[in-house]
Amino acid sequence: MCGIIGCLGTGDVTQMLIEGLKRLEYRGYDSAGMAVIAQDGMKVHKVVGRVAELERTLPEDFCGPVGVAHTRWATHGAPSVVNAHPHLDSKGQLAVVHNGIIENHRTLRSVLESRGCVFRSETDSEVLAHLIAHYYQGDLLAAVRQALRDVRGTYGIAVISTLEPDVLVAARNGSPLIVGVRDGGLLVASDASALVAHTRDVIYFEDGEIAALRADGLRTVTLEDLEVSKTVERIDWDMDRLERGGFDHFMLKEIHEQPEVIRNATRGRLLVEAGEVKLGGITLSNRELKKIRRIVITACGTSWHAALVGEYMLESYAHVPVEVEYASEFRYRRPLLEPDDLVIVISQSGETADTLAALREAKERGVVTVGICNVVGSTIARETDMGIYTHAGPEIGVASTKAFTAQLTVLALLTLRLGRLHYMTPETSREIVRAMAELPVKVERVLEHAEEARAAAELFAVTQNCLYLGRGFNFPVALEGALKMKEISYIHAEGYPAAEMKHGPIALVDKNMPVVVIATRDRVYDKILSNIEEVKARGGRIIAVATEGDREIRRHADCVLYVPETLDLLTPLLTVVPLQLLAYYAAVARGCDVDRPRNLAKSVTVE
Ligand code: AGP
Repeated sequence: MCGIIGCLGTGDVTQMLIEGLKRLEYRGYDSAGMAVIAQDGMKVHKVVGRVAELERTLPEDFCGPVGVAHTRWATHGAPSVVNAHPHLDSKGQLAVVHNGIIENHRTLRSVLESRGCVFRSETDSEVLAHLIAHYYQGDLLAAVRQALRDVRGTYGIAVISTLEPDVLVAARNGSPLIVGVRDGGLLVASDASALVAHTRDVIYFEDGEIAALRADGLRTVTLEDLEVSKTVERIDWDMDRLERGGFDHFMLKEIHEQPEVIRNATRGRLLVEAGEVKLGGITLSNRELKKIRRIVITACGTSWHAALVGEYMLESYAHVPVEVEYASEFRYRRPLLEPDDLVIVISQSGETADTLAALREAKERGVVTVGICNVVGSTIARETDMGIYTHAGPEIGVASTKAFTAQLTVLALLTLRLGRLHYMTPETSREIVRAMAELPVKVERVLEHAEEARAAAELFAVTQNCLYLGRGFNFPVALEGALKMKEISYIHAEGYPAAEMKHGPIALVDKNMPVVVIATRDRVYDKILSNIEEVKARGGRIIAVATEGDREIRRHADCVLYVPETLDLLTPLLTVVPLQLLAYYAAVARGCDVDRPRNLAKSVTVE
């Protein structure tokens, strides 16, 4: 929900903090702040608005060899200077930046106020500054550890103090935190994108770990004060993968990365000749996999839409019953789980709070869990029993695009893996494997017609409402297309199973209502044509996503966006692309901030 960064080095760290914050802005950006320890003590600067505003208004003398910084997505207390981080203790000797939610902050606050602490903000995070100061007796690491033992909730924090200007203390529980190791000092941040400009050598934190960073290294302990040894790992993301690559927005760049993303997600996993797949991350034996009686897939948002496509894939081709659950519902409704169930957890960031909690619920019940994540080393990736990384690379745009396509690719691979254990014949398997190998080129063909999507987006320039309709494998794609349009253009877009339209939504249809219909050539094509006619009869405007070569659809739709033919279970990887482009160009036409849409954060790491 927020981005934090801390730097400790030999020279001034101010610019490193600013650069790092800019990389973290997709995590939240309603206010920002920074603190450094200068010659004459603690310096703090905070603003409402973006990191650029923080940089623009930074005082001249703002510099120091150790500092922390924060970009906020408000959860407790409206965006304001006083609520922005860092938060200080009453004497201004200690500064804390925090990502997460302190659930018992009210109790802690009243106890601290009764001891004379003077609070300045409405935030939960401020209690940390006063609590650590309360426990401080000459050892900042010990004070942070003792304070966190009183805390219930989630946190990723970085702490500095004028009382110990050569140390930066960091800790995590339920919010991501990673240390960067470079010549001349150490950095700590919410994720690797803030570090790659300076180093690709990193150390991952586990929940319940606290570390004291010094110029000569770091010491890590648990909340129980047990020493923890950490290893340095190397990450392969570098700066140019984070740059826009010549596109106006990260989202457009990521839409165009999808052919490569599918290649990366299948690389080493799709054995085209043998018509088989290899999923090293699935450590269950064939015998254990055959014993699976039901699969539950749980996720949020776009990942939940991918889960719905996965349900259709797995039930149609692996003949395994599948249920899809919103993670936020799954975690609280005490779901019925059996020992031979398998729970799959899908999350791009690997840090979504509801999805992580759903995972932990399943693990408590003793069910085997599989993670489908994009961020290597993320919490969900490390807590599932096994998993399959989607290898989509960093997804910076808040609206998820390439991660969705990568998730579908992995779900298709999993369908093949399980299908071959049941009823899928080698011929069917080979046919699907071949079709998957052809997908990157087919997505490239769709992208070559991006200008047609830009033209179609004109229909959305002034509208406030629209409908998305699909059937079968493309019903979840209709939901995903609607979510994209909602997220970045702020148009109220609804996705529905096409046949469901006459049970209510058709009342909304008039000449101002664009209706997007996924009408690829499949066994329900004639039914979808009828749905289109129902809309046309009421003056609705039809944008159809259809199969290349289909001339019939032109007699029914106002605008047609074509995709190449492929197998039914793989059509979502093609039909979603025009819908992503439609949302993107509509948002640009409406002057919206495509990469950082209002009210949204890239990773929802709080409930
Ligand atoms: C998708 O465009 C949204 N940004 C959002 O719905 C997202 O998919 C959801 O928050 C889940 O995120 P995750 O995949 O990182 O868990």
